[in-house]
Amino acid sequence: MIKIKIIDKIAIISIDRPKHLNAINIDVIKELSLVFERYEKSHDVRSIILTGTGDKAFIAGADIKAMSKMSALEAYEFSKLGNDLTLLMENYNKPIICAVNGYALGGGCEIAMACHIRIASDNALFGQPESGLGLIPGFGGTQRLPRIVGLSNAYEILLTGMSISAVKAKDIGLISEVFNIDSLLDSALKIAKKINLKSPYSTNLIIQLVNKGISLNMEDALDLESKYFEKVFNHENKDIGISSFIERKTPDFKD
Ligand code: CAA
Repeated sequence: MIKIKIIDKIAIISIDRPKHLNAINIDVIKELSLVFERYEKSHDVRSIILTGTGDKAFIAGADIKAMSKMSALEAYEFSKLGNDLTLLMENYNKPIICAVNGYALGGGCEIAMACHIRIASDNALFGQPESGLGLIPGFGGTQRLPRIVGLSNAYEILLTGMSISAVKAKDIGLISEVFNIDSLLDSALKIAKKINLKSPYSTNLIIQLVNKGISLNMEDALDLESKYFEKVFNHENKDIGISSFIERKTPDFKD
């Protein structure tokens, strides 16, 4: 249900249910969680690209047919499983780039929002259509969308269930770039390669700081930043980075 390819320490993970527009069920979520847990400690992977198989959908949401058979308690467990996955991704120790190659609806938009960088193809469509199904978002949509695009944009998307284009998604800051579908993966690879040249220790600390700091007051958040600034000075990558700059060499950072 997912496909993985590793190129230059970049793991490309594709949700692979194209006949169902890559809709995600319990098995996909469990498989994704296992893969993310495996690569968290791996030295073979420095960054991850998440995408969907085909040129129509990234993820068209949670599997509606599977949800039609769920009891309320099973629905709670499904949502919990999805939210555990999105938390794991958001706080991941390596950057996750989402290459949105088509529909990113419901759970698809929510999985995308748990990634650190989002880029999309020009045919991508984003939305949270759950209320039209008598549901609500269950993988973090009510919480991450307002944090990313602000309350006004988030309420409009959540309450109307409207789909928004890649261009509009870029306008409101839901994604950072729009590409032609044929160049989307190459563009994601370019971003990942650029990040892979940086210190993985710094990359990890930046992600943790951004996530922790956002729910702290400014004073505590800046205090945490100073503590992490001290941490990097105790790491060998600081010596590698600074001496490489002085000697005009390309730094070869340790994992
Ligand atoms: N779940 C299960 N199957 C889905 C699906 C989904 N979310 N989205 C698409 N599919 C299936 C369709 O049932 C269809 O399969 P069959 O041929 O076997 O019937 C196949 O994918 C192709 O879909 P369509 O024929 O509908 O394709 P289309 O191009 O006409 O429309 C679409 C595409 C607009 C994305 C439409 O499929 C659609 O609206 N899908 C549902 C989107 C949605 O509501 N997502 C939110 C789900 S709820 C959620 O995600 C809750 C949560 O937060 C956790």
